[in-house]
Amino acid sequence: MVENSGSIEALLQEDRTFPPPEKFRQQANIRDPRVYARARRDPEAFWAKFAEELHWFKKWDQVLDWKPPYAKWFVGGKTNICYNCVDRHLESARRNKAALVWEGEPGDWKVYTYRDLYREVCQFANGLKSLGVRKGDRVTIYLPMVPELPIAMLACARIGAAHSVVFGGFSADALRDRTNDCQAKVLITADGGYRRGSVVPLKQNADDSLNGSPSIQKVVVVRRTGHADDKMVAGRDIWWHDLVKGQPMTCPPEQMDSEDLLYILYTSGTTGKPKGIVHTTGGYMVGAYATAKWIFDLKEDDIYWCTADIGWVTGHSYIVYGPLANGATTVMYEGSPDYPDRDRFWAIVEKYAATILYTAPTAIRTFMRWGEDYPRKHDLSTLRLLGSVGEPINPEAWVWYWKNIGGGRCPVVDTWWQTETGSILISALPGITTLKPGSATQPFPGIDAEILDERGQPVGPGKGGYLVIKKPWPSMLRNIYGDPQRFVQQYWSRYPDTYFTADGAKVDEGGYYWLLGRVDDVIKVSAHRISTMEVESALVDNSKVAEAACIGKAHEMKGEAVVAFVTLKEGVAGTPAVMNELKQHVVNKIGSIARPDDIYFTAELPKTRSGKIMRRLLRDVAEGRALGDTTTLADPAVVEALKKRYGDEE
Ligand code: WT7
Repeated sequence: MVENSGSIEALLQEDRTFPPPEKFRQQANIRDPRVYARARRDPEAFWAKFAEELHWFKKWDQVLDWKPPYAKWFVGGKTNICYNCVDRHLESARRNKAALVWEGEPGDWKVYTYRDLYREVCQFANGLKSLGVRKGDRVTIYLPMVPELPIAMLACARIGAAHSVVFGGFSADALRDRTNDCQAKVLITADGGYRRGSVVPLKQNADDSLNGSPSIQKVVVVRRTGHADDKMVAGRDIWWHDLVKGQPMTCPPEQMDSEDLLYILYTSGTTGKPKGIVHTTGGYMVGAYATAKWIFDLKEDDIYWCTADIGWVTGHSYIVYGPLANGATTVMYEGSPDYPDRDRFWAIVEKYAATILYTAPTAIRTFMRWGEDYPRKHDLSTLRLLGSVGEPINPEAWVWYWKNIGGGRCPVVDTWWQTETGSILISALPGITTLKPGSATQPFPGIDAEILDERGQPVGPGKGGYLVIKKPWPSMLRNIYGDPQRFVQQYWSRYPDTYFTADGAKVDEGGYYWLLGRVDDVIKVSAHRISTMEVESALVDNSKVAEAACIGKAHEMKGEAVVAFVTLKEGVAGTPAVMNELKQHVVNKIGSIARPDDIYFTAELPKTRSGKIMRRLLRDVAEGRALGDTTTLADPAVVEALKKRYGDEE
């Protein structure tokens, strides 16, 4: 049922264990394993205790109202997440502590104290109000990794407008789809951003997206690269620095209902259309706060760096909301890990004396390939905790990370979660858990996970099945924006009143979870989530293409790579020029993260008698494996021909 690749078998043979290093354990916030039992006995009380550490204008009347699949958390409570991330810290000496440490790719940098952040956020919030943005409106944010990005998010949250951040690597088409889906009123962008030494033309993409985004009334432009000064459209575009000029430096935070919309974040699903994942205020805040505090063991003097882009949920929860709700110092880097050289991450760790580093397996595997000399050039001795997220981490990469970056003294927390879950659901608690490389270890206290078979029966230790979550948790998604039917169908229809993750997993005899990858048509390319259906829609949008099927092919660095099988229209030849045109077409429709590594031209696609494309066999072909069961194929010759042509290329 759940397909295993060879590497997963290797992963399950991993038997080294790593108890918390004694020095780490002694100082850890959470050392008492009884937290698990306490949370199991009374999950609502467990979560409410975290909520009580935060600021509420009015306390909730009820912790949880669960009418599956609809959960309401901290019902009747009034709060504001921006207030909790900023204002709450101004009451103590923390006001003068660094909240945000930002480094640009060219080497420029800025530090904002909590007090600085407060001023910037308030001024921009007032700016948004002056553009007519009101509570309940949506604002699309399409920015590079510049300080204005978290400032804009916090400003939206402050006035009760929902943000929808669109990753800066997405194309104009992808931006337009997302802006239209949520009917955003304002778009915030920049003239450009720096990536690997060149400028990413964000303003150009934003402009291209705007023919066809009638809901957008105003465009706010951050001046970052200075190359689009002549592209401002009178009456529509306004510079960020002009908008904030003269704005009052205070702005009262909107009293938000716990269940008021906080943000929408689009993610890829099984169909071609991305889903607008809906997160609300109170529960999301508590989930991000609690998990950041316990899993990253945050202390007053930590310098915490998550290398994700804020365009993804990791950046929302673990660059912005989680760390700031905790009053931590959060580091943000604009650019690429190999600019100007392959030691850039280690130079940043050394420069800011980072104590916690959170990154993705794909990055770790890349550093491994680049070799130990790059990290060795820098003083990494301030690091005390490492994290991994986004895809399964192979034990080899885990151990390399532990040894070469952590110097053998830092626990490595492998954190499993999803855009939908809002915060980490499966992870070690670094002061308690004995680590097993390749395993995300155990559900966070209060999280009720299970592995089920097709019929909904628990599979038992060592057997693969579907990972589900049986009880609601505070930061869970509340809906798919504008598509409640898809919400029910996607997550709540497989098993009654149980959240379906679409991930395969196993639990070993010791109760450790091993994630086995997606069981739907979503693949993870360099930890980014891509829908094979979305790439297929982009390909068939090209007039030369008759039919397309995409799969994820195992890839040493990226985890998976997109491979497309394409049938061209009558009379079109599969030349290298056509191949390049199609790859570029996907980049234009979605963005470069979705560019297929390979395109295989084929006269026909292998289909069942009922016409379903057999992607499993396409994977066998692409990965050069013997073909699996072909008995259900309408015409076995199709896949044999494909195998002959492409199968032995490896
Ligand atoms: C999918 C969610 C969660 C933030 C970043 C990705 C995979 C995520 C792990 C992990 C194995 C993982 C799953 C999941 N995934 N973390 N530690 N081990 N797999 O969020 O883009 O919504 O992707 O990423 O397949 O379903 P996302």
